[in-house]
Amino acid sequence: MTMDHEQAFVTLATNDSYAKGAMVLGKSLRNHKTSKKLVVLIGPHVSDQSSSVLHKIYDEVKLVDVMDSGDTAHLAMMKRPDLGVTFTKLHCWTLTHYSKCVFMDADTLVLSNIDELFDREELSAAPDPGWPDCFNSGVFVFRPSNETYGKLLQYCTVHGSFDGGDQGVLNGFFCDWSTTDITKHLPFIYNMSSIAIYTYLPAFKQYGANAKVVHFLGQRKPWSYTYDPKQRRVRGEIQDATPHPSFLVDWWILYSSEVVPLLLRAYGDLPFHSGCEEGVAQHALSSMTSEERKQKWEQGQADYMGMDSFDNIQKKLDVFLK
Ligand code: UDP
Ligand code: GLC
Ligand code: MN
Repeated sequence: MTMDHEQAFVTLATNDSYAKGAMVLGKSLRNHKTSKKLVVLIGPHVSDQSSSVLHKIYDEVKLVDVMDSGDTAHLAMMKRPDLGVTFTKLHCWTLTHYSKCVFMDADTLVLSNIDELFDREELSAAPDPGWPDCFNSGVFVFRPSNETYGKLLQYCTVHGSFDGGDQGVLNGFFCDWSTTDITKHLPFIYNMSSIAIYTYLPAFKQYGANAKVVHFLGQRKPWSYTYDPKQRRVRGEIQDATPHPSFLVDWWILYSSEVVPLLLRAYGDLPFHSGCEEGVAQHALSSMTSEERKQKWEQGQADYMGMDSFDNIQKKLDVFLK
């Protein structure tokens, strides 16, 4: 019997943008009451502020500096600098103080408890929507092992990656995934790319309600949009005639309510852009004297979305407490 503390969800963030994704992912795993440890691998370009917030959400924040490794990884990197992120992801195999792990991309969001994934074996993953004989490496079950890590690096040096990323390497290395053992095929609901909504809408209507993990695969990530908290709308989201649940809005609700307050606290007086639009009311109110504002507040007319929003109040409190 393996113990829960020997098992972990693992993600990766090499910069502050992906760190936002990792924060939302971590929160979503906690909110759905995972009993597993949470680990985030970070690169040296992640700011101290982001790192401090990650420490609040994750059990373990591990700095992985690829350029410092000076070993096989480093050499292979030199030959193929395009594989930078790949090497960082493969680092998850070195987490040998865990017996089994589930890797999740920082652009995934958990919609219900998925601890049952730990019943699966290495290497379990869901089909890639673009080429279903390949698995998508945004969610996979693996067993940390220095031996496997070494073999993976060796594989990279010899064969490289057919897609320039980790998914090419992993599909090359675990090449019997599509033919050998069906229990290693995770159902699509554990890595449902939001693209599937548009490419196969009837299937999404039939099965989408069962989705447990949504993956914002592709160039445009949730954090590259802006959000209007008043209307609960994501600016620039593709709107079509068929109404379907917006996972993008789900991501933003979690980010704006549970992650932004932590980030504002971490940044203190330093500028930080949450991506949440500040209501027009804020600009109107900013010309108001504090006495006028106080009166409005006392009359029960607080501007909850603007000047008197939780974020602004939190910021003020933090300045006073410092
Ligand atoms: N990643 C990262 N920094 C980067 C690019 C990627 O930390 O600059 C990590 C992050 O965990 C991300 C994963 O690598 O989720 C895979 O990249 P991405 O999700 O952008 O690929 P996609 O799923 O869109 O193909
Ligand atoms: C894929 C996966 C992602 C991987 C990338 C590079 O589309 O979604 O996890 O990092 O390709 O191989
Ligand atoms: Mn991804």
